[in-house]
Amino acid sequence: METAEIRRRWLAFFEKNGHTVVPSAPLIHDDPNLLFVNAGMVPFKPYFLGQQSPQWDRATSVQKCVRTQDIEEVGKTSRHGTFFQMNGNFSFGDYFKEGAITLAWELVTSSQADGGYGLDADLIWPTVYEDDDEAFGIWRDTIGVPAERITRRGKLDNYWHMGVPGPGGPCSEIYLDRGPEYGREGGPAVDEDRYLEFWNLVFMQEELSAVRAKDDFDIAGPLPKRNIDTGMGLERMATLLQGVDNLYEIDEVYPVLERAAELTGTRYGVSSGHMVSESHPDDVRLRVVADHVRSSLMLIGDGVTPGNEGRGYVLRRMLRRAVRSMRLLGYEDPCLPELLPVSVERMTQSYPELGTGFDRISQIAYAEEEAFRRTLAAGTTILDVKAKAVRDGQGPDGSSRPELPAADVFQLHDTYGFPVDLTMEMAEEQGLVVDRTAFDRLMQEQRDRAKADARSKKSGHANTEVWRDLRAIGSTDFRAYEELTSEASVLGLVVDGTRVAEVEQGQRGQVVLDRTPFYAESGGQIADEGVITADGVVLKVLDVQRPVKGLIAHTVEVVSGSLREGAGVLAQVDPEWRLSACQAHSGTHVVHAALREVLGPTALQSGSYNKPGYLRLDFAWGQALSPATRSEIEEVANLAVRKDLPVSATYMPLPQARDLGALALFGETYGDDVRVVEIGGPWSRELCGGTHVQHSSQVGALTLTGESSVGSGVRRVEAFVGIDALRFLARERAIVAELSTLVGARPDELAERVGLMVARLKDAERELDRARKEQVTAAAGNLTERAKDVNGITFLGHDAGDADAGDVRTMVLDLRGRLGNERPAVVAITGAAKGRPVVVVATNEAARGVGIRAGELVRVAASALGGGGGGKDDIAQGGGQDPSKVGEALSAVEWRVGELAG
Ligand code: ALA
Repeated sequence: METAEIRRRWLAFFEKNGHTVVPSAPLIHDDPNLLFVNAGMVPFKPYFLGQQSPQWDRATSVQKCVRTQDIEEVGKTSRHGTFFQMNGNFSFGDYFKEGAITLAWELVTSSQADGGYGLDADLIWPTVYEDDDEAFGIWRDTIGVPAERITRRGKLDNYWHMGVPGPGGPCSEIYLDRGPEYGREGGPAVDEDRYLEFWNLVFMQEELSAVRAKDDFDIAGPLPKRNIDTGMGLERMATLLQGVDNLYEIDEVYPVLERAAELTGTRYGVSSGHMVSESHPDDVRLRVVADHVRSSLMLIGDGVTPGNEGRGYVLRRMLRRAVRSMRLLGYEDPCLPELLPVSVERMTQSYPELGTGFDRISQIAYAEEEAFRRTLAAGTTILDVKAKAVRDGQGPDGSSRPELPAADVFQLHDTYGFPVDLTMEMAEEQGLVVDRTAFDRLMQEQRDRAKADARSKKSGHANTEVWRDLRAIGSTDFRAYEELTSEASVLGLVVDGTRVAEVEQGQRGQVVLDRTPFYAESGGQIADEGVITADGVVLKVLDVQRPVKGLIAHTVEVVSGSLREGAGVLAQVDPEWRLSACQAHSGTHVVHAALREVLGPTALQSGSYNKPGYLRLDFAWGQALSPATRSEIEEVANLAVRKDLPVSATYMPLPQARDLGALALFGETYGDDVRVVEIGGPWSRELCGGTHVQHSSQVGALTLTGESSVGSGVRRVEAFVGIDALRFLARERAIVAELSTLVGARPDELAERVGLMVARLKDAERELDRARKEQVTAAAGNLTERAKDVNGITFLGHDAGDADAGDVRTMVLDLRGRLGNERPAVVAITGAAKGRPVVVVATNEAARGVGIRAGELVRVAASALGGGGGGKDDIAQGGGQDPSKVGEALSAVEWRVGELAG
């Protein structure tokens, strides 16, 4: 039985039994605890908890799910798939244990001719929660399963919860005995490969307040109602009904595996018996490809794009694992263009939107493969060579696992952008270990170098000749720590890298003075702003750098007059600017010290940037800071400001500074004497060349505005200082006030009120959606009267206006059902949501009996619409460009039906 048919029977069965069919929610759901929807009940959680009331007592769905915590297990066991579909039936305070068990039993054991799954009742083994005598009794007495086939199990197996606080309850799982060739006798507790679990019935009755482990949680109390949540693994049922070994071999997955085997010239299943655990590595790779290609298709379909964090990273990882597995199987060309279309072809049956969105989906996937291929090409070869060198150099005893030097891993990363987790994985495959700590250290050193590099580039590195010439004439006396205004004379002028005698109004160039109060950018502090003036001359200072040691170059724009070499000038730093710059730099030291006070001495700064009013600081730390930790750091920093600690700068020899524990941060090469800046003596003691306030209270206010990751093991905090901190807070206060007025709630009630509004909006949207669907079905009801006879075939053609593909499909299926099967019948309906025409054609069995195929008819219609389409004999979908042609498309189908019938 095809997966799509299992799914169809499921929905039909529960609909017949009074359940409302609810479409699958997207994989991305707005639950902050979940990366992806991972169970059928996720969209219904508020109903179970009694936070919202559903419009129905009974519902059923086939929910798309992704679970990636076992991604390493994919292909190695028969049961781990990253994407799967969970068929669920739900009762919200309606039927309970007996209802759930009898419904499940009926569907599973009814013959296939009667619309069931036709499993052999004698091979079914239910389990119940250890003290659930009620469920045990129902299985034994109401259903008639012999007591020895009913297993009682503990919390680990038979209590279900979401893994986070929420609803939960004891459960009863249903297993099928697949026979002795799959493993040992003795029931589910003995062998879960032979006894395959395919359906879990959860008796949702409690609310959990804390979850520490699967079998370790706190129950807050009973839920307002007793509910049913069940989950039947669609892929597992398909495995059973298609008589295949594992979920990678079912109809929705296997074609990709088969295509991958064909492309790579691999034979699948050579060595495996029924035990997946004994599989050949090539089999595992083929399964990884098949699984990951399908999961990526579904994820991109639901709006995920590859990235370096969160959901995007999961997707990127899967795409890359698929591509790399193909490579390991010997296929070096782009593989996704070969595989993704195979997957979409299988999946559109149940998810037509994948077909319509395939251009977008495939573009995203193919671009990611291209990017990864460039990285891989360079990296893999090098890694192999290095790995071989390590192994060749190993002693014959081979007692410990050989190590791939961290320097090599770093080079792969640095030069070829080879992801380190991939290197680790590949090294592992070659039996090598990697020293992760040493690698992280190299990464840090590299970041520091990059900073130094960026600095030298800014100073006009490219042309050092001119600066060395100037340096031979004289040097700049750097007075930034002592004065804001200096009298000086012009040592030299440079325009476009060449020395000139004069700069004129409107020109840009560099001015070198014999003395300057301007701070040249360094140590994360940006250059001062200000002016250089002389008689009738005004130069605006745009940047200040140190192109060579001993020389300071001011990049200027000549606002008025002209300036000659040798002229006397007045160099003036904007005092407002400087004060703010000092606040920001001292603020950086304060935040650094506060970080270390709260997090400990390992939270060491790895880089910083500050300009008037703003600072950011990168530091070594493995995880995100909680809001509470952020507040604590902010509090410690502001207390240090309030204490009015003295700020001092002292010169001393480097060894002495080290003895004092001063933090040297950037690996800069310091001269003999170094400058040590202290705030409150030892509280903050850093080697620093920056400008600072004299007392910590001059920093003013300090407010952390953000915290983020800037690479593995490095976090970044950002803050406003001084008046900018107050302005920031004032802006936030204004936003809160505005929201308060808009929503009509006091600020402290805002979060709750907005939360409620969002929830209500969602309810309303759902309600609207439901109403629309009902309208579509109701409208379809009257249409059967418009069916006409075309050469003995009942033909029903209809233009459904701006209905979308999903609605059109629903209508077509509904109408085909209504027309029955006595006479051959064809239904063709068009729609044009957002101006894009779609057409869906369905045939009943009698029509197919006389050779009329939906796939063929839809192509006729789609070509009238200026597009294409396809599908199976019983239902097919197409689309096109020109919505004004829907009438023509329907006539074309009718005409073709007549022709085929005649
Ligand atoms: N929510 C239950 C599960 O995921 C049915 O197994």
